[in-house]
Amino acid sequence: MLKRTHYCGLVRPEHVDTEVVVTGWVRSYRDHGNLVFIDLRDREGMVQLVFDPQTRQDIHGIARNLRCEWVIAASGKVRKRTPGMENPKLATGAIEIAVDHLEILNQAKTPPFEIDNAESVNEELRLSSRYIDLRRPEMQHRVRTRHRIAKLVRDYFDVNGFYEIETPMLGKSTPEGARDFLVPSRLQSGCFYALPQSPQLFKQILMVSGMDRYFQIVRCFRDEDPRADRQAEFTQIDVEMSFVDSDDVITVNEGVIAAAWKAVLGVDVQLPIRRMTYREAVNDYGIDRPDLRFDMKLKDLTDIAKECSFKVFAATVEKGGVVKGFCAPQANRFSRSDIEKTLTDFVAGHGAKGLAWFKVAKNDAGDRLELKSNIAKFFTETQQAQIIERFGAADDSLILMVADKETVANKSLAPLRVKLGADLGLYEDNRFEFVWVVDFPLFEWNEDERRYDSLHHPFTAPVAEDLPKLETDPAHIRSQAYDLVVNGSEIGGGSIRIHNPEVQAKVFDLLNISRQQAQQRFGFFLKALEYGAPPHGGIAFGLDRMVMLLTGTDNIRDVIAFPKTQRGQCLLTEAPSDVDQAQLDELNLRVQTHSHGAPETPQ
Ligand code: AMO
Ligand code: AMP
Repeated sequence: MLKRTHYCGLVRPEHVDTEVVVTGWVRSYRDHGNLVFIDLRDREGMVQLVFDPQTRQDIHGIARNLRCEWVIAASGKVRKRTPGMENPKLATGAIEIAVDHLEILNQAKTPPFEIDNAESVNEELRLSSRYIDLRRPEMQHRVRTRHRIAKLVRDYFDVNGFYEIETPMLGKSTPEGARDFLVPSRLQSGCFYALPQSPQLFKQILMVSGMDRYFQIVRCFRDEDPRADRQAEFTQIDVEMSFVDSDDVITVNEGVIAAAWKAVLGVDVQLPIRRMTYREAVNDYGIDRPDLRFDMKLKDLTDIAKECSFKVFAATVEKGGVVKGFCAPQANRFSRSDIEKTLTDFVAGHGAKGLAWFKVAKNDAGDRLELKSNIAKFFTETQQAQIIERFGAADDSLILMVADKETVANKSLAPLRVKLGADLGLYEDNRFEFVWVVDFPLFEWNEDERRYDSLHHPFTAPVAEDLPKLETDPAHIRSQAYDLVVNGSEIGGGSIRIHNPEVQAKVFDLLNISRQQAQQRFGFFLKALEYGAPPHGGIAFGLDRMVMLLTGTDNIRDVIAFPKTQRGQCLLTEAPSDVDQAQLDELNLRVQTHSHGAPETPQ
């Protein structure tokens, strides 16, 4: 067999007149009768092979039979392409290889889709033949970038004194709040392991064990419905440190982010990364992961709305609701039906009951700005001037508003703001805006269950000066948690942890986790806290989300070699699937079959 000397994509003009051997997959063939041209592809790119009947009649004959995706090895001399035939878009575009030996290493069936047009084919088809999909240069780039980041992360943490320590995959349920994937135990019949939602408790226990600085690139499992940026099986860069405060954790960890952005994109991340309180983020952007690539801050109009004669507004305020909105440029790009149909449907999808709007324009005399819309008549001249001033609106501004409970107004306006930011092209594609969101509330009131929930997880430490509020005012306790947000995507989150067993017990009380439940679920951990737990804290980054940002895709499946679909299936292997009865018997499991969603009566 011919032995490769060069990757296809790495042959360069400096190799002209040398004999090379390349191997790879036939990307395309062009038969010009006297000459056959093959584009041969491998991991590093593509090179043009030329078969000339004048020099090698026999090989030329074989080359004419090559088909797409056949695997070949070819040797020959590198030469400059005929002037005028160069392809400046290709790294190998100035040269070609005049082939003098050819080996067909394998044939291939016609691929189920054209590799060069894969972006336009159904994703399910790509996923079911992932080996072909992954041959695409875009996919190879993403896989390579992911590898580079993992390597860089390991080097960075090693240099900074962290140990990479593996923690079990077969464990006990952890408290990230999602549903667990369970694994039945054969040896302990009737008992189950849970796959880790994160190594949270193990990494804290490693701090109690004196490991001081831990990291791990680790698979986590959460049985939630997948989304564009969420998979049930995903990867964290997980970090924990002892004897630190929030600033220490933030400093070390923004360093690794800056290193990744520099290495992959050559982008200098301005350090220290700016910080914003949770309150500020929610007030100004309606969400705790603000996209700061563009402005369009939300403004509160409740005070003005209260006085106006538009019933929807006044009545909402009367009931304790708010009126919030934001001001977009280029109002003339929006027709009335764009606003009253498309944008209104959009916010309705996020829970809003309606979308009120004003276009801002000069009055007839041309000496001041006024509001134009179906509801403008309900606002006095003074109120209109106040609204214009509140938004800093200009001629051709579009003001969009939602009147509702504060949470609904925020939850509907935040995605609308992001949508308009993109639709109006308010930022450049390669721009990155990083922000640490800090000062989260420790708890969130859960109206359905009439109890508090942790905003992060129950091991997050309260800000020391807010500790007395554990007894008196839990809703206003701030936590020592921090999230790293990039362009509106949460790529990491962590906190300083509770290392005092009494504080931990009080937090469980507020979460309505009884002492008995706590013992049952995390007793091993609470016990560890009693044996000399150092002050400690950490963070976890979503590696998949980092790679998404660094390779410019908004589909998490693009950055995972073998991902699952929205329905949790691996289309390549057809997991999940039935198992043999013998396997079930060994595990003492019986599967109840369901018909039309309703369980059948057990026999
Ligand atoms: P958290 O639950 O915030 O924290 O997760 C950390 C980061 O992991 C990423 N992430 C996900 N990525 C893809 N698919 C998912 N389903 C998914 N869920 C989370 C996000 C997120 O910011 N143990 C704590 C960390 C700590 O306190 O140290 C934890 O897991 O980018
Ligand atoms: P209506 O009174 O339902 O005819 O609505 C008049 C205008 O107010 C329409 O443009 C609606 O979209 C808007 N609207 C209705 N409810 C709300 C709301 N909760 N918030 C903002 N605008 C609303």
